[in-house]
Amino acid sequence: MMRRICFVIFLMALPASAADTPDMRGAPFAMQGGEAVYRGVCQGCHMADAKGASGAGTYPALAGNQKLAEGGYVLSMVMNGNRGMPPFRDHFTNAQVADVVNFVRSHFGNHYKGKIREVDVQALR
Ligand code: HEC
Repeated sequence: MMRRICFVIFLMALPASAADTPDMRGAPFAMQGGEAVYRGVCQGCHMADAKGASGAGTYPALAGNQKLAEGGYVLSMVMNGNRGMPPFRDHFTNAQVADVVNFVRSHFGNHYKGKIREVDVQALR
């Protein structure tokens, strides 16, 4: 219950650009492929160049971010969220989670090895 309240509060704090992202309350997202998921969902907060932003909130850069070296960390963040990062476990398929994790770990100046697979996502459900 607390998590849901936090999520709703967070939705209200979304920057204007994120208002164009699809409804995040319940329905699964339709976009396929890591880049499409990034463009449709993540960039609203982390920005198109993944360099993050600060203003009403602080959105860390994913570009050149050494924390992304650990695939399991990125996976857990997308599934479960943390503070201002919403949890997406109920909105993405296993393929969408794996694709977007692999996308951010291999773009924006990141070249981290070891792909997250759909079974890795399933293991967290
Ligand atoms: C509503 C805004 C928002 C959206 C949408 C969002 N994030 Fe985040 N993200 C955040 C915030 C805020 C943090 C910092 C969380 C914290 O304090 O631990 C964060 C943290 C992260 C981190 C950890 C970065 C670090 O340095 O520890 C990763 C990885 C990440 N997000 C990936 C994604 C991906 C991939 C998506 C799309 C599926 C996404 N985020 C969508 C707001 C967002």
